[in-house]
Amino acid sequence: MTGASAAVDGDTPGDTWQRIATPASTVGPWLPDGELGARLAEGLGRVEALLRTSVDSEHPFVQEAAGHLVSAGGKRFRPLLALLAAELGDPLAPGVTEAAVVCELTHLATLYHDDVMDEAAVRRGAPSANSRWSNSVAILTGDLLFARASDLLADLGPDAVRIQARTFERLVTGQIRETVGPPAGTDPVDHHLGVLADKTGSLVATSARFGASFAGVDGELVRALTAFAEEVGVAFQLSDDLLDIVSQDGASGKRPGTDLREGVATLPVLFALAGDDPAEARLRELVTGPLTDDDRHAEALALLRSSASLRRAAEVLREYADRARARLDPVPEGPVREALSALCDYVVTRTS
Ligand code: IPE
Ligand code: IPE
Ligand code: MG
Ligand code: MG
Repeated sequence: MTGASAAVDGDTPGDTWQRIATPASTVGPWLPDGELGARLAEGLGRVEALLRTSVDSEHPFVQEAAGHLVSAGGKRFRPLLALLAAELGDPLAPGVTEAAVVCELTHLATLYHDDVMDEAAVRRGAPSANSRWSNSVAILTGDLLFARASDLLADLGPDAVRIQARTFERLVTGQIRETVGPPAGTDPVDHHLGVLADKTGSLVATSARFGASFAGVDGELVRALTAFAEEVGVAFQLSDDLLDIVSQDGASGKRPGTDLREGVATLPVLFALAGDDPAEARLRELVTGPLTDDDRHAEALALLRSSASLRRAAEVLREYADRARARLDPVPEGPVREALSALCDYVVTRTS
């Protein structure tokens, strides 16, 4: 366990916002205590309020479906990163809260869709929308959330609309490329890392970029923060993929082993497939075929948990986190930079 559980048990201002952020989950120990933590708590309160009204509908069922995952919790990682980046300028400047909410709404919408694609039954510790209602409801509710994000964006100006459009294009391009797999003649690992940058790095990068630019941070620093956040985003996805293998049921608010069951080859599996380690021969055999059968799935998961390929993937995660940290050089020394650096540790050590 990382410091997350200890932090939630404690009683500092930093813990207060963690509880506001997500009563059903842990945000992680990367955010600061003290004045910065208290300001982020206030910022997150504004984000939560706008998020709630953004999922309102005059139709009770639509309201229930759209509010389902907002109420279920979640780490609010993207809006928090936006708020933290905004701390390098004026965090109370117009547009900061709205931009942070746009990022969470976009993320939320992709979760509704992703759970249909992955046939996932659980999300944020609650039944996924597709399992609670149907694929159609989940897809259309995701679309509704995109519409609400666009509505907020309209007031943020054409540059913000374009940035979000291009971010979203990258995100779905990543999801499509993951779905169809690497084109013939391309290296599966290179393809995979490119997919992660597109499907996850893109929106995490835009979260930091929006927060900083609406806060009036100067262009060069915004670019550095954007590049930092993209690397962090890839690291965040790599750790999500490792957690899918190693976490215990319930810890992540999702069902572990979903990637294997769905045939999504994440980095440890790609390493196993590309290698010729005799110790991984049975693992290779299993992951080459379908893993919908419970016994085969359990065997593959157990082998993967103790594999050298898993440890190698964890090394790649660490490299991304280190690269992200190296991009913090232009950020002025102080609590914001310290929190961003702590985020690099968090993505490596997180357990949920
Ligand atoms: C899940 O994102 C999808 C990934 C990109 C890994 P989060 O882990 O941020 O999910 P929530 O918002 O906390 O539910
Ligand atoms: C989803 O990746 C990434 C996006 C939603 C863009 P995953 O499929 O790994 O996310 P989880 O594990 O379902 O949250
Ligand atoms: Mg998924
Ligand atoms: Mg996952």
